[in-house]
Amino acid sequence: MKKSVLAIDGPAGAGKSTVARLVAEKLGYVYIDTGAMYRAVAWKVLRTGQPATDENIVKVAQDIDVRLEYRNGSLRVEADGVDVTDRIRTPEVTGIVSQVARLQPVREKMVLLQRKMAENGAVVMDGRDIASKVLPDADVKVFLTASIEERATRRWREMKEKGYEVSMEELKKEIAARDKMDTEREVSPLVRVPEAVLLDTTGQTIDEVVASVLALCR
Ligand code: CDP
Repeated sequence: MKKSVLAIDGPAGAGKSTVARLVAEKLGYVYIDTGAMYRAVAWKVLRTGQPATDENIVKVAQDIDVRLEYRNGSLRVEADGVDVTDRIRTPEVTGIVSQVARLQPVREKMVLLQRKMAENGAVVMDGRDIASKVLPDADVKVFLTASIEERATRRWREMKEKGYEVSMEELKKEIAARDKMDTEREVSPLVRVPEAVLLDTTGQTIDEVVASVLALCR
């Protein structure tokens, strides 16, 4: 099979990263988590202790060295040489990441890196603007979604496993706020391009969704 490029977009908690990672594993491709890159910038903004103003965010984004590396088969995220894989999943980072990701200079830098990582093909990339902006020539484009209840429930389980106690209502609010910001921003908003296959994963198991995406690659 020709080495393809897969673009998976969708709102928060739709299961993109789990599905994209498993699809990449099955195909022997590289998985690229673009959300992790914006999260790494958000993490560094918080670490500076400065307020998350546009100016401060842009300054941090200009200086940061973000890398996605595979170590022992698992994807690690590095910011300025520090392994931030777990630290970028805290509620604090999630709370400001969409504010970080709406800024043009931040996106420009990240999109360049993302395209570079995809230049040899055989990649599965997930995010918000992959089919519309980062890789418009992708061979397979998927838009993954699920009901807000289901997305919040999945996120709740994930957070609980990591030891965070968050209320479902709070999570629903946070996800809805992030979706709104991601969809309504001026630069590269979350959008379903007409050619993307819509997969509503509400009530589906991960294996079912992975199988549907793999079927699109054949
Ligand atoms: O995993 P989850 O759905 O919570 O989000 P993520 O994929 O880690 O992305 C975190 C945030 O980064 C999103 O809410 C967007 O604001 C931003 N993002 C983006 O703007 N463009 C991308 N290609 C990926 C993420």
